Amino acid sequence: MKRFFLFSTLLVFLFSSVSADELYEVNYNIIPLPKEVKTDPSKKVFFMLKEGTGICYDQSNAECTRIAQFLKEWTKEATGLTLQLTPNDKNAKIQLRLVSPATPKGKKNKKPVVLTEQQKESYTMKVTEKGIELTAFEPVGLFRAAQTLRKSMPVVKGQQTTDNGQQKVEFPFVEISDQPRFTYRGVLLDCGRHFFSVEFIKQFLDVMALHGCNQFHWHLTEDQGWRFEVKALPDLAKKGSVRQKSIIAPAKVRLYDNIPYGGYYTQEECRDVVRYAAERYINVVPEIDMPGHMQSALHVFPNLGCTGGPYVVAPHWGVMREVLCGGNPETLTFLKTVFAELCDVFPSPYIHIGGDECPKERWQKCQKCQAKIKELGLTTEDVKVEGDGGRGSQDGRSAENKLQSYINHEIEQFLAARGRSLIGWDEILAGGLTEDAIVMSWRGTKGGVAAAKQKHRVIMSPNVFSYIDHPQLADLSKSPRTTDSYVVSCSKIYGFEPLVPEELTAEEGDCILGVQANLWTEHVAYPEHALYQLLPRLASMCEVQWCKPEQKDFEGWKKRLPQLKKLYDKMGLVYCNEVE
Ligand code: ACM
Ligand code: ZN
Repeated sequence: MKRFFLFSTLLVFLFSSVSADELYEVNYNIIPLPKEVKTDPSKKVFFMLKEGTGICYDQSNAECTRIAQFLKEWTKEATGLTLQLTPNDKNAKIQLRLVSPATPKGKKNKKPVVLTEQQKESYTMKVTEKGIELTAFEPVGLFRAAQTLRKSMPVVKGQQTTDNGQQKVEFPFVEISDQPRFTYRGVLLDCGRHFFSVEFIKQFLDVMALHGCNQFHWHLTEDQGWRFEVKALPDLAKKGSVRQKSIIAPAKVRLYDNIPYGGYYTQEECRDVVRYAAERYINVVPEIDMPGHMQSALHVFPNLGCTGGPYVVAPHWGVMREVLCGGNPETLTFLKTVFAELCDVFPSPYIHIGGDECPKERWQKCQKCQAKIKELGLTTEDVKVEGDGGRGSQDGRSAENKLQSYINHEIEQFLAARGRSLIGWDEILAGGLTEDAIVMSWRGTKGGVAAAKQKHRVIMSPNVFSYIDHPQLADLSKSPRTTDSYVVSCSKIYGFEPLVPEELTAEEGDCILGVQANLWTEHVAYPEHALYQLLPRLASMCEVQWCKPEQKDFEGWKKRLPQLKKLYDKMGLVYCNEVE
């Protein structure tokens, strides 16, 4: 028995002591795939990264300093090697360098070059026998470069050493130059249906940054819970965040757990999230969903509903007919109080006002709503509006939809006075778009196409390609229970082309700011499940967001995925281990 144990130990030792070259192989075929990766197999140039290799950066620049620290942490995480921060050391083997954009040839005047948003994020990474040089015009570009270096590194299991007792990582020659395709690369997390801790939000942001995403759409209010502290209205979060029970079986059965469920974010916590996100070059887009999806607020302020209530914080999912009264002037006062504090806390240039799934049956019968419609002279037109026909929405250019548009207009002005632009779900098209509205197209791409044709900015988030609350594998028995009316697999996401070239001209296509994946959480209550829904689908979505169509290749993506999954493992992330 003892002898057998010794023999098997020896076998394990023999098979696990793989050669260093194999173990420490650097691989530049990362996700998302950079725009240009030039390797040269004839150049047998290797740069050797070792324990104590120095990183040079501009110490007077706080962002460069932070990026160097990130790179140190990430290198340790992947390879076990500890790099040395050696600011301003021109001889250090890793150089982080900010450079000025060159004036275009032939231009004599010395006007500063204005960079596009994509150029601000652009970078180069060059590996020669001298070392690794990361250059960019702005710190955000250096951050993206550092992520590329991180993802190229081998993820080493345990401690491996070379003959002389030193760990090393061999980098082949490469010249990478990269920049994103879209400037808006978002992910939504619904914290209304289920509440997620600040600690998890930070992990979520780290995962977003790993995939090159730059917009965290924080869905903060729902029928089932109000999650944003409003200091002027303290009961709103205190009482509106708690539902007395939650549904535990499909809607038709209506079984509840009878356990109160709640949680909200203080403004201090929100500011902490904003700061954490900004350090990772992610903007936080907060959403207060109105005038529908407001039952949690109506529970606290029943006077804001058409019937006067009483209302409960919703214990089940779906589209609720109880919405804010469109004719009560107190509704606008309430909304302005909320949005004023929201703007104070979130510096985002975009503020999301929701606008989806607002049934109008209460408004049709409400005296106040009808009086306001009359006062504003709104009439129903027999016009079909592109994008109509979704759950709970009222089709066409009805007087009630125009009343919603009137509210949007008031809030748009309010936000504009604070230098912000409004984003709304595509239902905001129905009553007529307000001047500067950005449309988030979720009921397919039709709403986005219609908005782009009106020269409005658009974010594409069509449910069949972007709703990652849906299962990712066709065999539903393989996944945890989710919203399951259709499958959103990695290959489905990968095949999405956001510019809809068959319908939009190139100029109209310029209105498409980018793409977003949405993680709704009716059926996602825990961080592990949220990560499972997210990964590796975000790895697929991020190539839609980052790469040009001619670069995309799903089979190639599948070959590049295992390397990223090793990093997921090192980071302790849960993910779906099958890809369809
Ligand atoms: C949505 O899914 N109701 C935007
Ligand atoms: Zn009303």
